[in-house]
Amino acid sequence: MRCIAALFFVVPLAAVAAQELGPIFALVPSNGSNGVLATTREGLYLAQPDGRLTLHVKRDGGFVALAADPSDANILYGSGPAGGLLHSDDGGKRWQRQSQNGPESFTLLTVSPTDGKHLYGVADALYASKDSGRTWTRSGDAPDKLMNISASSSGLYAGTEEGLRFSTDDGASWRPASMLGIPVTMFSAEPDGTLYSFQFGQGLLKAHEPELAWTPLANAFGGQAILVMARNGNQLFAATHIGKLFVSADDGRSWQAINRPRGPESAAEKRGEKLFAASCQACHGSAGIGEAPQFRKSMQGLAPALDDSAHAWHHSDQQLQNTILMGSPVPNSRMVAFEEHLSPDDAADLVAYMKSLWNERALRCQGAKHMSPGCMTH
Ligand code: HEC
Repeated sequence: MRCIAALFFVVPLAAVAAQELGPIFALVPSNGSNGVLATTREGLYLAQPDGRLTLHVKRDGGFVALAADPSDANILYGSGPAGGLLHSDDGGKRWQRQSQNGPESFTLLTVSPTDGKHLYGVADALYASKDSGRTWTRSGDAPDKLMNISASSSGLYAGTEEGLRFSTDDGASWRPASMLGIPVTMFSAEPDGTLYSFQFGQGLLKAHEPELAWTPLANAFGGQAILVMARNGNQLFAATHIGKLFVSADDGRSWQAINRPRGPESAAEKRGEKLFAASCQACHGSAGIGEAPQFRKSMQGLAPALDDSAHAWHHSDQQLQNTILMGSPVPNSRMVAFEEHLSPDDAADLVAYMKSLWNERALRCQGAKHMSPGCMTH
């Protein structure tokens, strides 16, 4: 089910790109801070609106699914690659197995905003629990090509690659809700009936139950698709398919990247920026975010991100300059040698520009150091 999302967004990009945090499958508000907790393969990260990103809890295998009780953000439910449904009542610091039956691994979880004991989980099918995740019953099939689920006070929404589905019988039956034929990569229902969705191409949209009249909020994520979103107070947080985190303080109209790099400042970096726009951007994307994945098309041969979201920072300055001047060693690669058009100084300025697009950790862990203990995340 969730493997569809993985097929298009996570696996191929992860294969070409060892990311900063790896894929982020879920976000929940963090009680006791004004940030959010993000699932990673390492455990849970705390992302704060001032841009700080810190490891909150380490857990072997990490988390895949995560959901908070809408009425008490100290109560969290999670699931990793194994171990059943996990429960925390202290905002995610300590976790214990809660489930006595049901799947060993959930890929998606959501909690009803009207009854905090009522949980839904997706594994090989849709499961429901009425006792805070202790016992589970298989309540129906998950819709085809499912990407996300979200419980609202009137029912259960499912964002799929082919539009939005809605169920009022715990997922026993589903009917099309809106946005037919359009992939809904993110869907988030708030307790007051406010709905947010992200559609590839359309951007972030907002509506209110029961009308579902969608208003566009923002579409400034380049080729990135938002996969998950969470609110803490009046700030919204979102994570994209390449594991980048963003925060908005104006209800989703404008967004700032968390853990963001400083951008070009020095003369060399600014010169590199101009060269990049002229010779590289057509493939590697604006600000080096990488070639946009086109939905349903092969990821083969895509130009990787050169910012900190892929693995450009695993190479030394010299290696990067060599690739630019001499081309990729991969046979038939689209990354050709630029030595006839660019001088070694140009290549050095291009690398300086690329590095201005890297966050603190990528700069600190560049090259061979990326394998050292303080630098590896997975
Ligand atoms: C026609 C498309 C295209 C253009 C134009 C292009 N690249 Fe590339 N680039 C690629 C592809 C595709 C790859 C992946 C190569 C591979 O698979 O070996 C790549 C790889 C790279 C890499 C290695 C990244 C890594 O993580 O190992 C660097 C560095 C790079 N390009 C820099 C540049 C710079 C700088 C320019 C502009 C001077 C540029 N590229 C222009 C397509 C392009």
